[in-house]
Order: sequence, then structure tokens, then C-alpha cells
Amino acid sequence: MHLMATMSNMPRVIVKLGGGLITDKSLYRQVRLDRVDAVSAVIRELKDSGYSVIIVHGAGSFGHLEARKWKLSEGYNRDISKEQANAVTRVRSDMDDLNEYIVKSLMNAGVECEVMPPRKWATGVGVEFQGELDMFVRDPALPVPITFGDVVETSDDTRFGILSGDHIMVRLACEMPDVSACVFLLGDADGLMDRPPDEPGAVLLPTWKSDQSFSESHNPDIDITGGIMLKVRCASLIARDVEHVWLLDGTVPRRIIDIVSRGDTVGTRILH
Ligand code: IPE
Repeated sequence: MHLMATMSNMPRVIVKLGGGLITDKSLYRQVRLDRVDAVSAVIRELKDSGYSVIIVHGAGSFGHLEARKWKLSEGYNRDISKEQANAVTRVRSDMDDLNEYIVKSLMNAGVECEVMPPRKWATGVGVEFQGELDMFVRDPALPVPITFGDVVETSDDTRFGILSGDHIMVRLACEMPDVSACVFLLGDADGLMDRPPDEPGAVLLPTWKSDQSFSESHNPDIDITGGIMLKVRCASLIARDVEHVWLLDGTVPRRIIDIVSRGDTVGTRILH
């Protein structure tokens, strides 16, 4: 199917593959390649239809377990500084390994990527991090830029911290030109549910606005960057500037195609 991007008003699509989609969050370094491959096929389709794509991915069990153990998101701690230094190195190399799985999967699907690890271009954490984003703007014929949540340096006493892919999404979505769709792919739900997805009777919220409430189940034992709450908050910031901001079930990635081709699908559309 050709979506005729030239005739549509959706030239740039930014996709975040959540760590909960692409890894088994409870098992150290366990990638879920079948899920990655399914997303890669859809990215290929977007590219073939002329869209510019930017890919961001999370860490899941390639980052959170070790980062949490050594409190990396809290920054430098002199009592455990040696262990932290080792953990910074290990988390970064684990993230490189996870990234390699994804890049290879994309390559197999016919999508060439250029990897841009945040440790090389970003300083600081949160939505206000510093870093040059211009290199993410490129001709759709060039390789797809791909980046991810990472351990980055900070410019204060904390020395380092964890920059979440969700915060990178906000900056990319709000600063790149012509972004019309921004998608957060989840691993455990159709979108944002009215209560934790594993609770019986959980119902999908087809739209969500920042004044609406929902009950969340953030598991601080596993997730150090903030889980669904962070995603929803970031998505809501993006919705100020971008028309189509969605939380989707990444195990059914064709729903991204529904959004760019007809502006609707099963999932949660985040409204401003
Ligand atoms: C976290 O990035 C990065 C590290 C823990 C190194 P994200 O916040 O984007 O990751 P997920 O999507 O929650 O796994």
C-alpha cells in the first residue's frame, strides 16, 4: 500500500519503542526480537511511502535493573562511586547491545539507520537537557536517525544521570519541523487504560487530556524513569505542538499506518 506522503500532511513520524515492548523487563538483557521485527517492517513501510522517520527506544531490562541497583538516576554518590563508575560503563554498553539488535532488525527489513547515542550529544537530564538536535533533520532518502535512553553527563554536582527516551521524544517532537505524528509504543496494553492494564476490567481510554485522571501502577522496583506516568506527561507536552500523538500497543504496530493514513486507530490519542 502506498500512502502518498507527498500528498498528505504527515511528513515526519517519530516513534518510541518502549523498553517494556522490546525487552522482558524483569529478565536482565532479554530482548524480544519478534516484537522488534514487527515494528521494523512497519517502519520500512513508512519509509517506502516517503515519510521521514526518527526512532527512539527505551532500555527495559538493558538499563533499568543495573541503573536502579547503583542509583544512577540520582547521580554521583561518593560512597559507591567505584560501583557506579562500573555500572555507567555497563549500562552504556548494554544499551549499545540493545541498540544493535534494533539496528540489525531494521537493516533486515531494508531500513538503514544512523545511531546517535545521547552520551555523545546530550548533557543533562529531563526535558530541559542540552544538545544539538539539528542532526536529526534529514532528507527522507538518508539513513533513519535512531537514539535511545542513556546515561549522560550532567553539568552540576550530580555528574551524570539517566536521560529518558521519553524526554528526548518531547524535544524532538517540539523542535523538528513538520512533525505530524508521534507514537509511543507500549508492550502491555492497547494504550492508556483507566487503571493498571493487568487489573480485571481495565478499559482503554480512546482519548486523554491532561485534566483527566487515571490510576497508574508505576513499579519503582523495575522502572527508574517513571513508567506510564512519564510517557503520558511527555505525550501531553508534545500534543501542544503535534496533531497526532498516540499511545499504542506496539505488538500490533500496523496501527501506526492507520494513524498516518486515516488519522485513527485502536489506541489512546493524547489531546492538548
Ligand atoms: C531509560 O530510558 C534509559 C536507561 C535506564 C539507561 P527510557 O526511560 O526511555 O526507557 P524505557 O522505555 O522506560 O525502558
